[in-house]
Amino acid sequence: MEQLEGRTAFITGGASGIGLGIARALVEAGMQVMIADLRPDHIASAMELFESLQKSRQVAAVELDVTDRAGFARAADEAWARFGGVHVLVNNAGVGVTGSVADTTFADWDWGLEVNLGGAVNGLCTFLPRMIAQGEGGHLVNTASLSAITPPPRGSAVYATAKAALLAMSESIREELAEHRIGVSVLLPGPFKTNIREAGRYRPARYREGSGLGAVEAKLAKREDAPDWADPYDLGRMTVDAIRADRLYVVTHGEFRGWAETRFAEILAAYPPVDPELLKAMGRRRPPRPE
Ligand SMILES: NC(=O)c1ccc[n+]([C@@H]2O[C@H](COP(=O)([O-])OP(=O)(O)OC[C@H]3O[C@@H](n4cnc5c(N)ncnc54)[C@H](O)[C@@H]3O)[C@@H](O)[C@H]2O)c1
Repeated sequence: MEQLEGRTAFITGGASGIGLGIARALVEAGMQVMIADLRPDHIASAMELFESLQKSRQVAAVELDVTDRAGFARAADEAWARFGGVHVLVNNAGVGVTGSVADTTFADWDWGLEVNLGGAVNGLCTFLPRMIAQGEGGHLVNTASLSAITPPPRGSAVYATAKAALLAMSESIREELAEHRIGVSVLLPGPFKTNIREAGRYRPARYREGSGLGAVEAKLAKREDAPDWADPYDLGRMTVDAIRADRLYVVTHGEFRGWAETRFAEILAAYPPVDPELLKAMGRRRPPRPE
């Protein structure tokens, strides 16, 4: 989607961190933006930022929990009523569910999967039919994580599971959406300076009851950002470029490349040699992908 000026983006979790960095960059690129977020305090400070940048006329905000499907439909109605259309959907809202898998309960899995993966599914099912009916093309951005490709070896079962699913979702819908002139990008960020450490404090009661990760979350809430963690506005600008170029993968940290190479080499090494007979039989059912 080369032309962004005058078009509209809807960004979940758009009032803080990476979502806000994307909102800023899209506004700078001339778009109108609706930020949708669970936290009214984040919405208030985000709107103050756009006031101070003298861009508040391009921005609207709506309170939304991405696990609430009826709320999602109302938020979409609001975006269309306010801006007359939506061309870019950014499924970005996410929570950092971390802790030993042995301590992780149903409540923890439900929270992590329902927000990090279910939120994107809800976004897709709410917006895609409307964007297709609008007939003006567009773009979908999913905020995954480098954990989707190289999950930390400990403590990230829920988070990495959800993020790997977002990567697979992005790859598997791309070809179909291209038929509607809707591009797809998946963000694979390394560490950024954001407020994600606070997520546990805002965990809704229904996911708090029975959680095994309360102590980890209380400790995490006090974690300081490392000075070398990246600035979300930079990722916002990378996202603008990816939308314009219809680039599928947006990777922010080259330092993780060696780890990815090791993983891919191990996966490739696990493939058995080609059996020509089987390949012939498979070819009839499912032709090999073109180069
Ligand atoms: N911070 C990092 O280093 C990093 C790295 C890789 C990926 N990510 C991903 O980036 C995305 C944004 O996270 P962030 O780091 O900017 O954190 P953040 O906490 O600064 O921003 C996330 C925003 O999402 C909102 N949110 C949380 N749950 C929500 C819900 N149920 N419905 C609607 N809004 C909700 C929060 O209120 C917050 O404003 C997440 O998907 C996260 O997994 C972050």
